Amino acid sequence: MAASWAAKGGAGVSRCPGRRRVLAAAAGRLLPRGFRTAVTFQAEEENSAAEVVNVVFIDRSGQRIPVQGRIGDDVLRLAQKHGIELEGACEASLACSTCHVYVSHDVVDKLPQPDEREEDMLDMAPLLQENSRLGCQIILDKELEGAEFTLPKITRNFYVDGHVPKPH
Ligand code: FES
Repeated sequence: MAASWAAKGGAGVSRCPGRRRVLAAAAGRLLPRGFRTAVTFQAEEENSAAEVVNVVFIDRSGQRIPVQGRIGDDVLRLAQKHGIELEGACEASLACSTCHVYVSHDVVDKLPQPDEREEDMLDMAPLLQENSRLGCQIILDKELEGAEFTLPKITRNFYVDGHVPKPH
């Protein structure tokens, strides 16, 4: 009986997002594993939408590429996931500057200050600017909604063996 109550969406679909989440959680506990109701799907969609961060990459040719990331994504992996040529030769271990990006001026001050290792790597980046940062160190949050990340015209690649890093 509890499962059929939950399968019908509990006491109906509430207009209150908080109540929907509670109902969804209750339904999830009452239902057999892997069985989800419209209520749980709706709550999951809302949670998912709340985590989206819209940003724009501007590639080396000047093309604007809008993408949707999620809170917690780093800018290097987000770029690679969308086929944008941001190299990331050291795979985010702060041992290169090939993930160098320019951050749009309206959001650059919202980022945490770069630590000493990031500063050291940035010092080796060609075409350094005031708004230069390493993409692998930029973690998306809602404050970065609408941010633009411009790829510099050149980067210095420390790899000489043809290794092309892949996102994990
Ligand atoms: S990928 Fe090397 S420092 Fe970001």
